[in-house]
Amino acid sequence: MPHQPFHYRSLADLEQEIDELGLNLPLSKGLSALARPVTIGGRVAPNALAVQPMEGCDGTPDGRPDTLTVRRYVRFAAGGAGLLWFEATAIAPEARANPRQLLLVKDTAPAFARLHEIALAEAQRIYGSSFRPFTVIQLAHSGRYSRPLEHPAPIIAHHDGLLDEALGLPEDHPLISDGELDRLQDRYVEAARLAVQCGFDGLDIKSCHRYLISELLAAHTRPGKYGGSFENRTRFLLETVGRVRAEVPGAQITLRLNVYDGHPYPWGWGVDREDPAKPDLTEPLQLIGLLQDMGVSLINVTAGNPYYTPHINRPFDQNVIGGYTPEEHPLAGVARLIDLAGQVKTAYPDLVVLGSGYSWLRQYAGHAAAAAVGEGRADIIGWGRGAFAYPDFARDLLQRGELAAERCCIACSRCTQIMRDHGRSGCVPFDREVYAPIFRAGRQAARQAG
Ligand SMILES: Cc1cc2nc3c(=O)[nH]c(=O)nc-3n(C[C@H](O)[C@H](O)[C@H](O)COP(=O)(O)O)c2cc1C
Repeated sequence: MPHQPFHYRSLADLEQEIDELGLNLPLSKGLSALARPVTIGGRVAPNALAVQPMEGCDGTPDGRPDTLTVRRYVRFAAGGAGLLWFEATAIAPEARANPRQLLLVKDTAPAFARLHEIALAEAQRIYGSSFRPFTVIQLAHSGRYSRPLEHPAPIIAHHDGLLDEALGLPEDHPLISDGELDRLQDRYVEAARLAVQCGFDGLDIKSCHRYLISELLAAHTRPGKYGGSFENRTRFLLETVGRVRAEVPGAQITLRLNVYDGHPYPWGWGVDREDPAKPDLTEPLQLIGLLQDMGVSLINVTAGNPYYTPHINRPFDQNVIGGYTPEEHPLAGVARLIDLAGQVKTAYPDLVVLGSGYSWLRQYAGHAAAAAVGEGRADIIGWGRGAFAYPDFARDLLQRGELAAERCCIACSRCTQIMRDHGRSGCVPFDREVYAPIFRAGRQAARQAG
C-alpha cells in the first residue's frame, strides 16, 4: 500500500479507496452520534468531540501560559468541543521539552487557574452558562526529549539502540536512577494537587509518545525495580496513579496512553515481539485493566513516536523537512489508530475511550468519528492538527452537519516543523498571519545554523 496524499472529492470516493485497500474504516453519513453527551467519572462532557493536547511551545520562560497560549485556548473553547485536553505541561523544570513548555509548579499555578477560567468563560459566553466542556491537563515529563534550556538534556529510562543512535547518545549515557524516579512521583503528586486547585476536571499522567513514562513501559532491558518484568515496567505509572488517588482529594485521573509504539522488541511496547509492524495489545490491555481498577475514568488512546515513527502517530501527506515518506498509505495509519482504540473499548466497555488520529481525513473526519462512536469503538473523538487549523470544527460538525473542506488541516507537518525549529507552534496554512512568519524565521535560522 504505497503512500498517497489526500485526493478524495466525495465521501463515496473515499469509501471506494477504503474498500480497495481492504481496510476496516467505516464512515457514517449521519453525525448525530457526535452530539451525545458523555459521562466521565460523574461529570458530563456535553458532546463527543474533543480538542487533543497540542503543544504550542509558547509559554513564558518560567512556564506560565503567555499571549499565544491564551489565544489558542480561547479559540479552542470558542469552537464548542465537549472536552478540552490542555497540552503537555511539565511537572518539573528539567522535564520540559523546550524552554517555553508550560510548567505547572506552585509559582505558575495561578496563571493556569486563570487560563482555565478564561477558556471556560469563552465557551459559556458563546454557548450559554449551562455549557461546560470537560477539561483535562496533561502532566508531562519529556524524558529523552527533554530540552529545558537551549540544548537537549535527555533523561532516559533505558537504552534503545535506535533512539540512542537517532539522538547521538553515547552507550554510557546514564539512566535516571530508581531513587530519582521515586522522588519524581512527589512532583506528579504536587502537580496533580495544583491541577485540581486550578479547576481542571481531570489530570492526565501522560504516558505516551515515548516520553518518560511511555519509555518506562518499554524498559525491558532496564535493571532494578522499574525494568524487566511487566510488573516492574508498569510500577512507576501505577504507583504514581495510586499516590495521586490517595493524596489528592478530588483528583480525577485520566491517561493519554500509547498502546503501540512500533519500536522493535526489546525496546518496544505493545508490539509483536517478532514483527514491530504488528501491534500486540496483550500488555497494554492488562495495564488498562489495572488502571481501571484504580479508578482511572478515561483513556485517550494514541500510538507511535512523533520523532521516530510519526506516520504511526499522525498520518500525514508531508513529513517534516528531511523526514521519511512511509511505505504505508495514510488511510492504513488512520485505520490502525481507530482499531487500537476499538480494541481498548471492546475489552473495557465501561471505560471512557477517546480516539486519536483523524485529522488526515479532512472534511470526512466527522464521518469516521461518528461511525467509530456509533459502533462503540470509542466514546469521544479528538482533533489534534485539525484543531490547530480549524479550532471551531466541533461547532461546524454539530451545527452545520459538515466541515468546510477549505478550512481543514492538510497534514503538511508545518506545525511540527516549527517545533523542530524551536519556534512557537501553530497552523501555518490556516492561521497564516501569526504562524507563517514564525515558520519562515525558524527555517531561516535552521539554514543559517547549517
Ligand atoms: C504540533 C503538535 C503538538 C502536539 N502536542 C502534543 C501534546 O502536547 N501532547 C500530546 O499528547 N500529543 C501532542 N501532539 C499529538 C496530537 O495530540 C495528536 O495525537 C496527533 O497530532 C494525531 O492526531 P491528529 O491526526 O488529530 O492530528 C502534538 C502534535 C503536534 C503536531
